[in-house]
Amino acid sequence: MIETAFYDTKPYDRQYFAKATDRIKWRFHEFRLSAETAATAKGARAVCVFVHDVADRRCLATLSQSGVRLLALRCAGHNNVDLNAAREQNIAVVRVPAYSPHAVAEHAVGLLLTLSRKIHRAYNRVREHNFSLNSLIGFEVFDKTVGIVGTGKIGRITAEIFRGFQAKVIAYDPAPMREWAAQQGVNYADWETLLTQSDILSLHLPLLPETNHLLNAEAFARMKHGVVIVNTSRGKLIDTRALIAALKRGTVGGIALDVYEEEEGIFFQDLSDRVLLDDVLPRLLSFPNVLVTAHQAFLTHEALTEICRVTTTNILRLETGEPWLAGTAL
Ligand code: NAI
Repeated sequence: MIETAFYDTKPYDRQYFAKATDRIKWRFHEFRLSAETAATAKGARAVCVFVHDVADRRCLATLSQSGVRLLALRCAGHNNVDLNAAREQNIAVVRVPAYSPHAVAEHAVGLLLTLSRKIHRAYNRVREHNFSLNSLIGFEVFDKTVGIVGTGKIGRITAEIFRGFQAKVIAYDPAPMREWAAQQGVNYADWETLLTQSDILSLHLPLLPETNHLLNAEAFARMKHGVVIVNTSRGKLIDTRALIAALKRGTVGGIALDVYEEEEGIFFQDLSDRVLLDDVLPRLLSFPNVLVTAHQAFLTHEALTEICRVTTTNILRLETGEPWLAGTAL
């Protein structure tokens, strides 16, 4: 039995991991891993963490002293782990590089359709027996120009789904996939063209120093009037205050967000009986043409099954000494 301390546990994690194997003894903690909580891993050989756990140098030193040999991230991103410190402390780090790009792509398109056909408003209205159609006029995706920013795993699937609607799809990526684009009838364009021509813009690129606030006041000013934006990538790709100004002006005709600049400390939690201390998110939520989901694009049965399979396989390999699953070691 491999004892594994599992941090930031949500009910859906427990649902999938608890029944995955009887060769791992899980210690589910609802609190997060940090330098302050690392001592709770004592006796465990592996720890399993998510995006908001913080494995910094101090935390990793405590884990190492406690006998931890593997840190398994049940996500793709790893900016919350000090990889150099992990190496020095002889703790291997593994992650789940891709669980289901379809999950995120389908959520992005779902958000767009909800917004374009005002389904979020219709849903609430009908529940109150208000069957009026006033102000529910939507628009069709057919024949619109959809700009895909980033044609990696998720961006490509999103582009293909939009092609299914017979939309014109243009894309921007510094590393273009030309053969794929030719096959799918997708045209690469420069950033300026994407901003000025797109009726719909969908973001599928990573957050890097150079992509921080990619959509800022200047970018909003160049967009087609009434553009509808979808962001399922990272909140900080958008300058939220500039977005609010663009929504007020009507430059942005609607936006669907699965991520928010200051989501840490808000998303993944039930704050319904508390006062929300963030002043910007409530302003965003007050717009009828803004739709927010709380970082749930990845949350499908298929993705959770894959996250669980990759993570448990790697933890079990701690015992057998087999190499980590291809592409998972950091
Ligand atoms: P990927 O690594 O396969 O593709 C990213 C693409 O972005 C690459 O083709 C890269 O060349 C391109 N890129 C880099 N810099 C760019 C720039 N300045 N402009 C345009 N394109 C640029 O990543 P994948 O798997 O497609 O994920 C995309 C993003 O989706 C991730 O970065 C992550 O932030 C987000 N994500 C969100 C989830 C959610 O639940 N909301 C779940 C998983 C990922």
